[in-house]
Amino acid sequence: MADSSAPAKLQSMRGWIYTSTAGGLEKNLKLVENASLPFRHVLPKDAVLVQVRSCALNPADYKFPEMGLPMRAFIPTPASPGLDYAGVVAQVGNAVEGFSTGQRVFGRAGFTRYGSLGEYVLVRRNGCAAVPEGVSLEDASCVGTAGQTAYQCIVPNVKAGDKVFINGGSGGTGTFGIQIAKAVGCHVTTSCSAKNADLCRSLGADEVIDYAKENVSEILKAKGLVYKLVVDNVGNDPADLYKAADHFLLPEGKFVQVGAPASFGGMKTLVSRMNLPSFLGGGERKIEFLFTKDTHEDLVQIGEWMREGKVRAVTDEVFPYEDAPKAFEKLKTGRARGKIVVSQSSKS
Ligand SMILES: NC(=O)c1ccc[n+]([C@@H]2O[C@H](COP(=O)([O-])OP(=O)(O)OC[C@H]3O[C@@H](n4cnc5c(N)ncnc54)[C@H](OP(=O)(O)O)[C@@H]3O)[C@@H](O)[C@H]2O)c1
Repeated sequence: MADSSAPAKLQSMRGWIYTSTAGGLEKNLKLVENASLPFRHVLPKDAVLVQVRSCALNPADYKFPEMGLPMRAFIPTPASPGLDYAGVVAQVGNAVEGFSTGQRVFGRAGFTRYGSLGEYVLVRRNGCAAVPEGVSLEDASCVGTAGQTAYQCIVPNVKAGDKVFINGGSGGTGTFGIQIAKAVGCHVTTSCSAKNADLCRSLGADEVIDYAKENVSEILKAKGLVYKLVVDNVGNDPADLYKAADHFLLPEGKFVQVGAPASFGGMKTLVSRMNLPSFLGGGERKIEFLFTKDTHEDLVQIGEWMREGKVRAVTDEVFPYEDAPKAFEKLKTGRARGKIVVSQSSKS
């Protein structure tokens, strides 16, 4: 039953706000006590207002704002970054069924002006699900982007017994990807550096390739045509991975590109993979660039696996709310082991 009772006299909120990204988003974030609420006067009928307790960061949280002017057309400033959240429902729009005030929820707010690094965030049903019993808000906040991305790359493309190669197993999307592929019964090979090999194995990876010391494409080619799916969370390393997949990805298999490095080299690799015909040196296998879609049912399934202990959030570090810029600095190193979380609560 929808509940549209408003939090008492809500006029403004605390939030991390930017008006510029010159020199890097993290250098421009300001914590203010009187940020605008994510809606004016009346909550939209199709929205749920969530008081955020935990926000896990994603590379998109800084990549898009740092695109500058083109992005301002979609998201004017002042704005607050943050896609992913977990928190407590504060208000429910009249047309939304299945949520009630006080309920613990998690998911993805999507690209919005007032993101989840604010005290409150507006979310739609597709990007929202109940946090299962026994799952903390910090862990649930890790799922929105990385969990849904991994789910949408893997689950529609495989069946139990299939072999999957995940390029980049130790970051946010990779740690969820390994576990989701195992949850649906796949054999998983992944790449990571030596320091993260034990982590990837502990998540279920059957084979681990040290990308820093070994030639990933050659090792995979030597295995023959055995893989049903390649998920490339890195995007440009190795740059020849898609072409090499002609030799290790089954003809009916699929190459799903997730990683999109915000560099000229990264864009060039992506454009040539998607467009270069095989007679000009391109690959032959089916390729798709994944755009993550907020899907209530996917969030519910991942939450259920977390409740059952089949999937867990891997957290690199939890930063207190006041240290959000430091959390971005760490994310930007590109070396995160799992997720970087910004907590708004000591009680999550
Ligand atoms: N298309 C979409 O809708 C979508 C959705 C989500 C994410 N993405 C993109 O996907 C990429 C990954 O996202 P993420 O959240 O997983 O990032 P992340 O958590 O920041 O990834 C960091 C991890 O990547 C590993 N890594 C770096 N270079 C590697 C390489 N050459 N081979 C293997 N592992 C490597 C690092 O391990 P080491 O420390 O060992 O190097 C680290 O553990 C980003 O480009 C992101 O923007 C796209």
